This record gives sequence, structure tokens and C-alpha cells, in this order.
Amino acid sequence: MSNPQLETETTFVMLKPDALERNLVGEIIGRLERKGLRLKKIELRTVSKELAARHYAEHLQKPFYPELEAYVTRGPVLATIWEGRKAIAVVRGLLGATDSTKAAAGTIRGDYGFDATENLVHASDSPESAEREIRNFFGE
Ligand code: PPS
Repeated sequence: MSNPQLETETTFVMLKPDALERNLVGEIIGRLERKGLRLKKIELRTVSKELAARHYAEHLQKPFYPELEAYVTRGPVLATIWEGRKAIAVVRGLLGATDSTKAAAGTIRGDYGFDATENLVHASDSPESAEREIRNFFGE
């Protein structure tokens, strides 16, 4: 039998500018809380071009990067750290597919997002990226 304690993970979740502009903070955080995840840290901040480049390093050369940079730096974001059982996979399941037009109804992006850029939330996709992203945003 699996031991839930051993499956506890930490993940980084960023509510992007459209989530704040559209007053969806309570809705998004509520969904994560109701799933059973625990909010460990939360900070309202703006993302500089330098931080955007570090956070999205693997996308710097992609054609969509200029649009992504303009989007993520245009207003405040909420940088958050969550803990819980299988938190990385669980959060990504709650978000739905990256492209909101393909995300299933019932997921955050499926219910509220519009496309692959304005998709409301970022979440780490592995323990290594969670560690790197937390370091980028919180210096931990
Ligand atoms: S991919 O397609 O494998 O590169 O997708 P992924 O690694 O999941 O994340 C891509 C991040 O870039 C944002 N973005 C876009 N992705 C694909 N196409 C377009 N046009 C695009 N524009 C922006 C996308 O929202 C992902 O951001 P995060 O914050 O990681 O969800």
C-alpha cells in the first residue's frame, strides 16, 4: 500500500496577470484548496523582463516568446507555493491543457481561459522545475 506521506510534493504555481485582472484569484485558489492542497507561501509581485526570461528560459527562442513576455510582465502576478499529495500532477490536472481552447470543461483553463497565452495559471511540471521556479521567485 502506498504511503501518502512519501508522496507529498511541493509545487510552484503562478496566477498570471489575467487571473488578477479578471478577479479569478479566489476561484483559482479555492479550487486548489478544495482539492486538499495546502498553501505554504503567497506573494503579490510584478515580473520583470529578466525574471520572465529566467522563468521561461526554455521558451526564449520560441516564436511566441515576445507575446508571452508582454503578457506576464503587464501587471501583477501571485507567486505561490503549495504542498500536498502528488501536488505537481494534481495541480496540472486541475489546470487542464496549456492551450485553453483544448482544455476540458471543468478544468480552470477549460472553464475560464481563452488561448495558449492567456491561460491564467502556470504550474511546475516536475520536482526539478518546482525547485528552480521557487528559487527564481523566492530565492529559496
Ligand atoms: S510547449 O508547447 O510544450 O512548449 O508547452 P509548455 O512547455 O507546457 O508551456 C509553454 C508555456 O508558454 C506559454 N505560451 C505558449 N505555449 C504554446 N503556444 C503559444 N502560442 C504560447 N504562448 C504562450 C504557455 O502558456 C506555457 O506557459 P506556462 O506558464 O508554463 O503555462
